[in-house]
Amino acid sequence: MASDETKILLRESEMPQRWYNIQPDLPAPLAPPIHPGTGQPLGPADLAPLFPMELIKQEVSQERWIEIPDEVMDVYKLWRPGPLFRARRLEKALGTPARIYYKNESYSPAGSHKPNTAVAAAYYNKAEGVKRIATETGAGQWGSALAFACALFDLECTVYMVKVSYEQKPYRRMLMETWGAEVYSSPTDLTNAGRKIRELYPGTNGSLGIAISEAVEDAATHEDTKYSLGSVLNHVLLHQTIVGLEAKEQLKLAGEKGPDMIVGCVGGGSNFAGLAFPFVKDKLDGKPIDIVAVEPEACPTMTRGQFRYDFGDTAQLTPLLKMYTLGHTFMPEPIHAGGLRYHGAAPLLSLLVDQGVIEPRAVHQLPTFDAAVQWARTEGIVPAPETSHALRVAIDEAVKCKQTGEEKCILIGYSGHGFFDLSAYERYFAGALEDYEYPQAAIAAALQGLPEVDGTD
Ligand SMILES: Cc1ncc(COP(=O)(O)O)c(C=O)c1O
Repeated sequence: MASDETKILLRESEMPQRWYNIQPDLPAPLAPPIHPGTGQPLGPADLAPLFPMELIKQEVSQERWIEIPDEVMDVYKLWRPGPLFRARRLEKALGTPARIYYKNESYSPAGSHKPNTAVAAAYYNKAEGVKRIATETGAGQWGSALAFACALFDLECTVYMVKVSYEQKPYRRMLMETWGAEVYSSPTDLTNAGRKIRELYPGTNGSLGIAISEAVEDAATHEDTKYSLGSVLNHVLLHQTIVGLEAKEQLKLAGEKGPDMIVGCVGGGSNFAGLAFPFVKDKLDGKPIDIVAVEPEACPTMTRGQFRYDFGDTAQLTPLLKMYTLGHTFMPEPIHAGGLRYHGAAPLLSLLVDQGVIEPRAVHQLPTFDAAVQWARTEGIVPAPETSHALRVAIDEAVKCKQTGEEKCILIGYSGHGFFDLSAYERYFAGALEDYEYPQAAIAAALQGLPEVDGTD
């Protein structure tokens, strides 16, 4: 029997003490990252210039549970445990028999799920004597999260912000600067990768792939500096599982047996995986759960890309990862969900999509804003454009329940608020937003340039 509460809260003492590592529970082996020079699987030494050793260990760990350090728990307590909400007003407005819950990550200081891993990254870097962290940011959410985390652990932070977001979202930049970070519009003329792209594509909007190249180059060429990635990698997804672990406890408190459907948006895959992975284990153990990963039609990585080895960045500086990809040369249209404009998807998530455990879906920009406004006018909170992708699908599913009479329990990953995205809402209301469908020919051309990896591809 579902409870009549709107907010389902945990006490600090009930916060999960360990992250869940899905690697030992995967239904098929995860292909290893490959060194682009040798064509051989990477060893820890290859990653050491970029990441602290503890994160490298987590990247390959086969331990199902990994203890969250006390210092990280202490910072998490600034906003965690996060609330689980029942979207009662939306349910009523839709007239649906579905019970809709959302795990609200917008309460963190940066306004999204991103600090869950930023705090861990800052902690492990600090513990290993690093002075500065370089990173990229798309929407500005990840850069904000890392700037916040670095401030708390007394680390310097350099952020390469994709040019289109730098221009669309000045308040995100100011937020990062308030936390003490240095922020550059990418591509810059500070790195070889940036200079080359500026020469090849004058006037480019930038892309996450380019900004990653710049941040990686910065870290690799400075002794006291490491790199931090806010999504895609196994250890990042691991840190985000606190979201799903909390949600699981909260659904029990709400009197639910578990979700029938989980919906989240995917850029690199971290918020989605964080919410879904603790439930994926239940699904693999036989529980029927539909797990839906939503991406933009303008960047259809999982729905129209290929599952194969590719670089994580445009300048081909990163290791090769086996993942769904649109090709590392992918140049996205300037949709407002900046955090979803990435050519790849996390290898762990990609594997589960390939295995049919997770279902990918793509949605257009305008319907996501329709959903966002409907949400804001019922549930009150204004969602990030990224989050609105999940809301679109969840609302469509709840409407289907109205037609079929199914009383589904739908769990949404509410990855962040949209307070710094109001210029996008303004453009939506002015009728100035467009839908973009990424052309098949462009995908085919980008995939032509993918490296061949012997035997494992
Ligand atoms: C609010 C929000 N949701 C989702 C994402 C997508 O990232 P990921 O797929 O790693 O969760 C971003 C990325 O910037 C974001 O800012």
